Amino acid sequence: MTQSHASQYTWAGRFSEPMSDLVKRYTASVGFDRRMWRQDIRGSLAHAKMLAGQGIISARDLADIERGMAQVKDEIEAGRFEWSLDLEDVHLNIEKRLTALVGDAGKRLHTGRSRNDQVATDIRLYLRDAIDDILALLKQFQGNLLDLAEREAATPLPGFTHLQVAQPVTFGHHLLAWFEMTCRDAERYTDCRRRTNRLPLGAAALAGTTYPIDRESVAADLGFDGVCENSLDAVSDRDFAIEFCAASAVLMMHVSRMSEELVLWMNPRFGFVKIADSFCTGSSIMPQKKNPDVPELARGKTGRVYGHLIALLTLMKGQPLAYNKDNQEDKEPLFDAVDTVGDTLRIFAEMMAGITARPENMRDALRQGFATATDLADYLTRKGLPFRDAHEAVGLAVRRAEELGVDLPQLSLAELQGFSPLVADDVFSVLTVEGSLASRNHVGGTAPEQVRAAIGRARRRI
Ligand code: ARG
Repeated sequence: MTQSHASQYTWAGRFSEPMSDLVKRYTASVGFDRRMWRQDIRGSLAHAKMLAGQGIISARDLADIERGMAQVKDEIEAGRFEWSLDLEDVHLNIEKRLTALVGDAGKRLHTGRSRNDQVATDIRLYLRDAIDDILALLKQFQGNLLDLAEREAATPLPGFTHLQVAQPVTFGHHLLAWFEMTCRDAERYTDCRRRTNRLPLGAAALAGTTYPIDRESVAADLGFDGVCENSLDAVSDRDFAIEFCAASAVLMMHVSRMSEELVLWMNPRFGFVKIADSFCTGSSIMPQKKNPDVPELARGKTGRVYGHLIALLTLMKGQPLAYNKDNQEDKEPLFDAVDTVGDTLRIFAEMMAGITARPENMRDALRQGFATATDLADYLTRKGLPFRDAHEAVGLAVRRAEELGVDLPQLSLAELQGFSPLVADDVFSVLTVEGSLASRNHVGGTAPEQVRAAIGRARRRI
């Protein structure tokens, strides 16, 4: 016996058997795509307005749709909306409720549209908003970072290469390196936003529509910079979501590097910083512990964002034009990337305000690391010794200081002259950490004067 199930499913007109529960659950997306309900309603209202403007539906229909959608919105906001798995996704859930509320006008909403261009529009609207939120959070993080850099503009910190003490830098200078990383992150998001902000609606299922639509007016209404130029491309590609995850992966890589440094710096062997207690946790068994959980977790969460990037790249690579159901799988990775980056930035912004330097420990590490050895080599070079010879002479001096258990400036003048007759008593000014820092006085250098100037420029950039 042939029987239509049109009463149960919007699309069931040509089907003769009902869907199994397993398939229903497997194919449904309402559990996660309902988070785009605002975008879905916004897109539908813009579409309906255009349909009415073009005389495709009546002004009366538009009024009914607007009234019904206002109620749908109220119901969702109040938590009274009944989401149904039978209705598969956010789009059909909302449309069905609208139709229950306003009748035929609700059924006319989908004229000249498909869920394929509808969902592509919703995701782009959603992602555009998410990017704006992330950019605002980045700015907040950067502001707090610059405040900390300003407080520590002249605080000497050992700069490392190979995680060994290399040369003195200021703590402020180090933090400005973090600032630069996050500036490029912001640029990547801004760039991604440009390509995201194009309207797919009008592409319909894949080939466009036979109705006399006006895509430009819908684009303007929704704040898009323009329309997607090709209908097949509009409904199928998710490269903008991939770009978002790529930008997020790079951002999280940066956050993870900062986290790694914070974890090291909090270790008592370094003891370079204190992080406010509210960002640490204790141990349930070891009473003495204070663990840097927040940076550790951020470092860990980086992996899941990388995972989302790979998931989306893999999702896309096998798809022929145009829309395929595979694309329904774009949402969970994208949403989780948005959540992870947002939460991480929010907490890092706050954490920056709760970091205090421990300059005495930084200075101890500088001393133990012969951090001004290069300055001594440069001094000898200025006096005429070829740099390679100066390098060797200072190497011998470091070895001697190590034997004596002292830092370079504690060697006597006579002792230093033993390594090179070019050494005079002006040598001690270059062997101090302050002298070393002050002498790197050029754009991009670590001299406190330059760091302060760089902070001034940085503030104007954000
Ligand atoms: N839930 C679907 C998605 O996320 C909406 C589009 C479905 N289109 C279709 N023809 N089945 O991609």
